[in-house]
Amino acid sequence: MNSGAQGGNVVTVIAGDGIGAEVTDAVLRVLNAAGAGLEYDRREAGVGAISAHGTPLPQSTLDSIDANRVALKGPLATPAGSGFRSVNVAIRKHFDLYANVRPVRTIVPGGRYEDIDLVLIRENTEGLYVGVEHFIGMEGDPKAAAESVMITTRFGSERIVRFAFDYSLAHGRKKVTLAHKANILKHTQGLFLEVGQRLAGDYAGRVGFEDRIIDATAMYLVLDPYRFDVLVMENMFGDILSDLMAGLVGGLGFAPAANVGERHAVFEAVHGSAPDIAGQGVANPTGLLLSACLMLDHLGRSATANRIRDAVSVVVRGALARTHDMGGDDGTAAFTNAVVRALG
Ligand code: NAI
Repeated sequence: MNSGAQGGNVVTVIAGDGIGAEVTDAVLRVLNAAGAGLEYDRREAGVGAISAHGTPLPQSTLDSIDANRVALKGPLATPAGSGFRSVNVAIRKHFDLYANVRPVRTIVPGGRYEDIDLVLIRENTEGLYVGVEHFIGMEGDPKAAAESVMITTRFGSERIVRFAFDYSLAHGRKKVTLAHKANILKHTQGLFLEVGQRLAGDYAGRVGFEDRIIDATAMYLVLDPYRFDVLVMENMFGDILSDLMAGLVGGLGFAPAANVGERHAVFEAVHGSAPDIAGQGVANPTGLLLSACLMLDHLGRSATANRIRDAVSVVVRGALARTHDMGGDDGTAAFTNAVVRALG
């Protein structure tokens, strides 16, 4: 995905909170059964880390990711009242994981669309999510107004747009759509668009380019998703549209993600810690499993990744096992057993 961030045989594994332990165990079982040949440096983070380490993000966990450069991470709940806005955001910031890559592929047939195959690349460090906001008091009301600052830099725009084009080249993709709101946000989004249009010239003849207003992009994703291939956008637009795109293929249970920087990469499912079903053995491990496949791609082990993807597809399409969120009644272990059997 990004040669500078490629790691070795040892990966940091963080099970995380809630269903994290259940889905992580399932994923490691599949990786081992597929002969992925990885060693796991297991570390803690999240609410579960506080009792032993006094913090949801122990230094030893950061050191491990730093050394191994690649991590597979379960969901982390953000404890109320901690110094962190979010442990996930803190990890992304610490390692400057500027590219959030979310491939969206049909696995369960019979949804609204068949054969969806899209990739959203979301800028992960700038935009409105930098958290520069405050209330403005007036006439005795301390919250009479609120202000939030969107930050766009040429540097940040260039590296995410270039990432989208380089990703497209590396993965045989044909077109990059830059989605924006430059018609209204003429400075922040205007800069993002200007940078995109300029960089597109460097890839002319190799990867196509178009720009589209974000609201029209949302409409066309619902009406005719096949007109898109790779999409790139700023942080908040990417956050929103990636969930919309997950909805095109059946929801968050199948949504993997990679957070990629110059030197490090952290792979995680899009879903959270699902406290409502934690400990019941019913969680769907597919999101984290497909994230582990992205990790294998990143480590140059795409053959193993594709074997696992094929096994998941065989199990789900053939209804050999389906977890509750897929409309079945199998638990995590039964689903995982079926995937392991399908590996052959
Ligand atoms: P959630 O994704 O944990 O749960 C939403 C709904 O989806 C729940 O009904 C849950 O049971 C279901 N669900 C989620 N994953 C599932 C799976 N693998 N199999 C079956 N059903 C599944 O979102 P929620 O409830 O908003 O967040 C819970 C906690 O997770 C919060 O503390 C939040 O901050 C954290 N979170 C962490 C993320 C991360 O680590 N990247 C991402 C999103 C939320």
